[in-house]
Amino acid sequence: MAGPVVAGKSDHWGSRFGFIMAAVGSSVGLGNLWRFPFTAGENGGSAFIVIYLISVLIFGLPVLMAEYALGRHGQRSSIATLRKITTEENKPKAWIGMGWLGAIASLLLFSFYIVISGWVFDYIPQSFSGAFSNFASETELLNASIGQTVASINSQITTVHLSSACAFVSDGVITQVPEMVNGEEVLRDITVGDVSGCRFAETTGNKLEIFFYTAAFLALNVIILARGVKGGIERAAEILMPAFFIMLLGLVVYACIFGDFAGAASFLLTPDFTKVTFNTVLAAVGQAFFSLSVGSCVMFTYGAYLTRETSIPKNACLVAGADTFVALIAGFAIFPIVFAFGLNEAGGPGLLFVTLPIAFGQMPTFIGAVFFTLALFAAFTSAISLLEVGVSWLEDQKSIGRVKGAIGLGLVMLAFATAYIFRGDLIDHADFLSGTVMLPLGGALIGIFAGWVVPRHILEKELGTGKHLQLVLLLLRFIIPVFITLILISGIYTKFFG
Ligand code: PHE
Repeated sequence: MAGPVVAGKSDHWGSRFGFIMAAVGSSVGLGNLWRFPFTAGENGGSAFIVIYLISVLIFGLPVLMAEYALGRHGQRSSIATLRKITTEENKPKAWIGMGWLGAIASLLLFSFYIVISGWVFDYIPQSFSGAFSNFASETELLNASIGQTVASINSQITTVHLSSACAFVSDGVITQVPEMVNGEEVLRDITVGDVSGCRFAETTGNKLEIFFYTAAFLALNVIILARGVKGGIERAAEILMPAFFIMLLGLVVYACIFGDFAGAASFLLTPDFTKVTFNTVLAAVGQAFFSLSVGSCVMFTYGAYLTRETSIPKNACLVAGADTFVALIAGFAIFPIVFAFGLNEAGGPGLLFVTLPIAFGQMPTFIGAVFFTLALFAAFTSAISLLEVGVSWLEDQKSIGRVKGAIGLGLVMLAFATAYIFRGDLIDHADFLSGTVMLPLGGALIGIFAGWVVPRHILEKELGTGKHLQLVLLLLRFIIPVFITLILISGIYTKFFG
C-alpha cells in the first residue's frame, strides 16, 4: 500500500453556511425519510426513538467529530490522509486499510442508493398523474371481478397493469390473495395495500424505466461533482437544502392539520420500554450511523475542505442536531397520515412506496408530488457525498481530474446499479454488507484510530482542549469499540443463525 504523500486540497468550502448545507445535505437523506420512519414503526415508535437519540449522542457524534478532525488535519482524501498520518507519526501502515474500507463502503452504498433514488424519481410523475387516487375504487372493482380473466377487466383498471407482479393475479385470472395465518394458507379479499403494493412491484419491475431514472439521477450527480467542491457540491446543497426544509415544513403543517396528529404524537412521544429488545438497540445504533453518514469516511472527506476558522465540535453538534430534527419531523409528516387512514405503522421498507401513496391518493395531487420531490432532493445531496469519497481519492492518488474521475466512477456505478435493477435481491445483500457491517465496523475503527493511534496534540489542535475532548476520547477509546463489536457480532449472528 505504499504510495506518495500527496499535496493537500486546494478547493475549500466557500462559506460556513455552504459547508453546513453540504454536511446536513449528506446526513439528511433516504435514511431520514425512508429508513427512520419504517424502522421506528417496526420497533414500536417512541421507545426506539429514545434509544436512537442516545445512540446519536454516544456513538454518532464522537465519530462525526473524529472524522472531521482527521479530515481537516489531513487536507486530503481519506486514504491519502491516513497515509500522511501513518507516515508522519510512524504508525502501522495497515491503518490505510481503514480508508479503503470506507471508500468501498461508500461506493457500495452509492451503487444501490441511486437505484432507490431512481424509484423515488419515478414516483414523482406518478404522483402528478393522480394515479394513486383510483386505488380505493379499483380495489372494489377488483374484488367484484374475482374469478374473471385479466383480459376481461384490463380496460377498466388504470392504476396497475394486472401483471404477474400482483399478488391477486394468478395465471391470467384475478384471484383472492393467499396469506399465511398460523402456518396455514388462507385466502382473503384484495386490499388497497395489495393494489398499491402491486403498483410498486410493477414500477420496480419495469427495468427499462427504472434504469432511465437511475441513470438520470446518476448523471446529475456526476455533473455536480465534476464542477468541484465550491462550485458543485456546495452550490447544489445551498439551493436544494433550503428548498427541502421549506417543503418539509409545509408537509408537516398539512399532515398535522389534516392528519391524525394526536395518534402520531402518542405513537412517537410516549415511550413503552416493555417493547424494547436487544434488536431494538441494534436497529437504533445502525440507524444512527447510517443517518449521520459516519463510518464510511464521507465526513472525513468533507472535513478535508474545512477551513481553520470552523469550530468542529460546534458544527458537528449542529449537523447531528439538524439530521435528528429532520428524522423526527419526517415522523410527524408521515405518521399522522398513516394513522388517519388506518394504515399499518409497521409497514416496513414499503412504508414510503406502498403505504404513503394510498394516503396521497386521497389528498390533493400535489401533496404526493411535493413529498417525493423533497425526498429526491435529500437523496441527491447524500448521494453526491458518497461518490465524492471516490472522486476525491482519484484526484489525490491517481491525479485523475474531477471531470474524468466523476464520469469514470459514474460508469462503474451504473454497471452495479444495472445488476441491482435486474436482480432486486442483491440490494438487500449490499445494504446488509455496507449498512449493517461496514459502517459500524468503520465507526469502531475510526474510534480506535483517533482514540489510541493518533497523537493527542492533533486532536487538541482540531477539537480544542476543553472537557469535551476528554469525554469524546473516553467514548472513542472504550465505549464505541466495545459496543460496536458486540453489535456487529450479534447483528451477523442474527442474520445468519437468528
Ligand atoms: N446519511 C445518508 C441518509 O440518511 C446516507 C449516507 C450514509 C450518506 C453514509 C453518506 C454516508 O440517507
